[in-house]
Amino acid sequence: MYPSNLTIESIGKAFRLALANGFIREEDTLVMFHDLSFLQERIHHLNSVFPASTLHAVAMKANPLIRILEFIHQLGAGAEVASLAELKIALKTGYTAEKIIYDSPVKTWLDLEFALTAGVHINIDSLAELERVATLKQTIDSGSTIGIRINPQVGVGTILESSVAGEYSKFGIPIKTGRKELVDAFLIYPWITGVHLHVGSQGCSKELLLSGIGILYDFVNEINEKRKTTGLQPISIFDIGGGLPVSYKGDQIPVSMEDYARAIAVKYPSLFTSHFSLLTEFGRWVHVNAGWTVSRVEYVKRDSGINTAMIHAGADLFLRECLNPKSWQHEYSVFDKTGNLKSGKDMNPYNLAGPLCFSGDILARNVALPMIEEGDYLVIHDTGGYTLSMWSRYNSRQTPRIIGYTGEVFEILKERESFKELEGFWG
Ligand code: LLP
Repeated sequence: MYPSNLTIESIGKAFRLALANGFIREEDTLVMFHDLSFLQERIHHLNSVFPASTLHAVAMKANPLIRILEFIHQLGAGAEVASLAELKIALKTGYTAEKIIYDSPVKTWLDLEFALTAGVHINIDSLAELERVATLKQTIDSGSTIGIRINPQVGVGTILESSVAGEYSKFGIPIKTGRKELVDAFLIYPWITGVHLHVGSQGCSKELLLSGIGILYDFVNEINEKRKTTGLQPISIFDIGGGLPVSYKGDQIPVSMEDYARAIAVKYPSLFTSHFSLLTEFGRWVHVNAGWTVSRVEYVKRDSGINTAMIHAGADLFLRECLNPKSWQHEYSVFDKTGNLKSGKDMNPYNLAGPLCFSGDILARNVALPMIEEGDYLVIHDTGGYTLSMWSRYNSRQTPRIIGYTGEVFEILKERESFKELEGFWG
């Protein structure tokens, strides 16, 4: 079966090697790791289950580390970008315009001008944005292809904050109330040749994602009939977004990418034919399970009720785990200072508390773990995406050293932030 998570054996092996080879120095109280061969497998797997012509534009917001972007670019993936800066980073990293999808609900005139000039694929988020693009296209000879983001209004998943296909969403044009305007737009502007949807991120079932695709699939077929009668080119770019959930906890059954792709092919067969250019924007599925983070345990506060392990990451790296702990949980492992995995029958409940100056800075509460001692290391599993990219500057902690590895070969992907760099942030 296709692996959903890294095993504790492979993490333990990499951790011991990193320790033995001096990759974790005294000041590296927190270090993030990425297993590059696991990441590579994910891209290969995507290529193998979708039609070969599909552009897999990996959501940059999940993990914008330049070395990682370079790595997945070399494997043939594209980039989904959500801001002008992400767009510029993708171009600078070597992604060509044909491999970039630009999504954002607040593109300015200047952003649009830049994107149209660069020639990247643009998903328009609103009718007002459509008017801006129409105006700019009168003076810019652009190579961009243009799609419209449509909210299929199929409902929300289990996490409201990352669901975007409910009756209301700040993203896209809603299919129910905006239907007439959408039909008009597709008949007025021949250069709109794509549709885009994204149902949500984590917490959305495969069935919910599929029903979103289904709504747009029917709509596109209807529009293409109409376009045919008026002599317009059909809509041929179909962007299914991202959103396939991953397993963070042993009891979360992973959704198979292979099953998802197969279900799309069965339910909406022409998407897998040459009638359509298929685009995907997976982020979490590509990155999260390839990474893990290790923090030194600085202190352990012992109490009759609960012990608290004081560690070096809290809401700065794990914002949503701290603020919305019911929806966001990880697996944890404890290693001693020489890198041996602690296990055993003697499990005790621990709170895992971060270093930040507010009481909600607790990564997890009441986690059953073996005896933790000062100087041990706590491994937080499945941290390869939506972690560093959501880093908070509160309390001015330096971002950690980031290490990539393939087998026994280690590489520093990004050095621990220097004090000077940190100071620079504040002006
Ligand atoms: N495409 C669009 C338009 C998106 O908004 C997103 C994620 C993706 C693709 C990638 O979705 P994925 O395959 O990674 O689920 N801050 C949140 C994550 C928000 C995701 C936002 N958009 C978190 O706490 O994890």
